[in-house]
Amino acid sequence: MQGTTIFTTMSALAQEHNAINLGQGFPDFPMSPVLTEAVNHAMQSGYNQYAPMAGWLPLREVLAEKIDYLYGQSVHPDTEITITPGGTYAIYTAFTSILRPGDEVLVVQQCFVANAAAVEMAGGVAVPVNAYADTDFQVTGAALEAAVTSRSKAILISYPNNPTGAVLSREYLLEVAAVAERHDLVVLSDEPLPDLHAPAPAALEGRAAGDGAADFFGLDIGW
Ligand SMILES: Cc1ncc(COP(=O)(O)O)c(C=O)c1O
Repeated sequence: MQGTTIFTTMSALAQEHNAINLGQGFPDFPMSPVLTEAVNHAMQSGYNQYAPMAGWLPLREVLAEKIDYLYGQSVHPDTEITITPGGTYAIYTAFTSILRPGDEVLVVQQCFVANAAAVEMAGGVAVPVNAYADTDFQVTGAALEAAVTSRSKAILISYPNNPTGAVLSREYLLEVAAVAERHDLVVLSDEPLPDLHAPAPAALEGRAAGDGAADFFGLDIGW
């Protein structure tokens, strides 16, 4: 089917054939009552105006705190965090911001289905770089290096990975960083599930805006 996503195609087929749908993950748990209460409270309290372009400042501040708590990384909420409606839009926004027609992006495979499309929609060329089981599906510096050309602009990594579940170790992360530094490449790190491999930030517990919104915040863009 042209002009649609693999999710639409597979979900339609599953429905047509009355089959179990393994093509798309649907949450099988209810929404957090903290989140529903916070959203309900905001609506009842008259929060109906346009949000600032970069996102609501208290949300950006609590995310900066979270990043500091988890990674010891100081990120300025005013200039280094932008809120988007989901991960797909964050990736799209990032590529439309940095790519010029013909720029190449090394897209580590496996990755989320929309990522290469976002590169192409921004006029770029998605160059697949495979990660294999012998490195627990972590991309190696050598594989990235072999794909670099004079048109290379960025590397797109995604860990914890969908669908392999791989987490990037420090050893391989340093290899990615070395290639990026050597060729002056931007690294986009698509991390929709960071709390799977990092402890919950106890300091932020009970702060509905941070916790709830973090679930929607799909992309951390690194250096
Ligand atoms: C690795 C990865 N990146 C991006 C996305 C897209 O995120 P969103 O649904 O917030 O657009 C997903 C969604 O499953 C994903 O798994």
